[in-house]
Amino acid sequence: MRIYKVGGAVRDRLLGKPVTDIDWVVVGATTEEMLAKGFRPVGADFPVFLHPKSGEEYALARTERKSGRGYGGFTFHASPEVTLEEDLIRRDLTINAMAEDDQQNLTDPYHGQRDLEARLLRHVSPAFAEDPLRVLRVARFAARYATLGFTVAPETLELMRQLSESNELEALTPERSWKEISRALMEDQPQVFVEVLRACGALKVLMPEVDALFGVPQPPAHHPEIDTGAHTLSVLQQAAIHKQPLTVRWACLLHDLGKGLTPEQEWPRHIAHEFKGLKLIKAVNERFKVPRDCQELALLVGEYHTHGHRAHELKPSTLLELLQSFDVFRRPQRFEEFIAACEMDARGRKGLEEKSYPQADYLRGAATAARNVAVQPLLEQGFKGPELGEAIKRERLKALKTHKEKA
Ligand code: CTP
Repeated sequence: MRIYKVGGAVRDRLLGKPVTDIDWVVVGATTEEMLAKGFRPVGADFPVFLHPKSGEEYALARTERKSGRGYGGFTFHASPEVTLEEDLIRRDLTINAMAEDDQQNLTDPYHGQRDLEARLLRHVSPAFAEDPLRVLRVARFAARYATLGFTVAPETLELMRQLSESNELEALTPERSWKEISRALMEDQPQVFVEVLRACGALKVLMPEVDALFGVPQPPAHHPEIDTGAHTLSVLQQAAIHKQPLTVRWACLLHDLGKGLTPEQEWPRHIAHEFKGLKLIKAVNERFKVPRDCQELALLVGEYHTHGHRAHELKPSTLLELLQSFDVFRRPQRFEEFIAACEMDARGRKGLEEKSYPQADYLRGAATAARNVAVQPLLEQGFKGPELGEAIKRERLKALKTHKEKA
């Protein structure tokens, strides 16, 4: 039996990037031999094993053939006769289809190293089309390696376009799609993920609500970049530059969906887009079974981001309602994330990237002022039940009024 390192570990070592998990491929072995060596089988679907000590994945070299739609629609063939080259040719990208033995001798039948040097994400063979998830994977790799100068090879983009036009993307499970989307959003240049999906027509299938923002104008006074799609990409880019968490990045991507619903005759204004967008945000959230914290923040940012921008103008009562909508007294972190998303929205505008955002400190101060209202003195005054609630509210309003006057 011969054992090779494959996939991302080889690619990232050649790129000089840190290697986190290592995948291995085993040539010339049977399942029985693997079990006899103490490897533990993973699931029933594929001939994949975990190393008894390191826990790393070891897969028997295999060939695959598509036999139906979606991820389950595969028949595979693993036997000691399957060669390394046969295993590598079914993989997605040439840069992911290299193998290395324990002496670091490279097996690279599909010229992955050449494409690494040319900074090209290129598919290995027509077998690429057998897994539609690869459309999202390529877009994700494009987002990850954009800083190094990588682009998608034109023939691969064409294949991705064909896959997007067929109904194959619809066979993806929400879980697999979200895994790719969430990883892509956490890359250095998440906006490239969206750009590549758009370029191959996949965005229109996966998130038509985001796709619809391109070509929709906004008032140049607030949005020198004008186009709502371009703005959304810049907001996402700012979120990555400012190292925001996934919740904030997801909210950034979806915050302006309502603008895609504005009738053309109302352009470039978008009256009540915050509210109109909520049903679209909900639909995207549900489509990918997005984790609850991301869902909630996206909806709250969608509804209230313009409140954030107008923070200094809000009446104390509106400010208090805003704080209550976020349940800020129990969940201060979520309000911080809202402030961050508003700031990214303000910075994601052409030429305004470095402009300060005093609303952030004002909102933070408001939350602190309201939170600092002490309940004990009110209890001592004898308030209880609904009256206590009213008294706390009065004190919080007073605190917010003082905060506003001081600003
Ligand atoms: N692979 C593939 N098609 C897929 C998933 C995986 O061809 N849909 C192959 C690729 O050769 C890939 C390897 O399996 O390199 C390992 O996959 P995975 O661990 O998902 O990705 P990595 O390439 O290791 O990348 P990452 O750094 O994102 O984990």
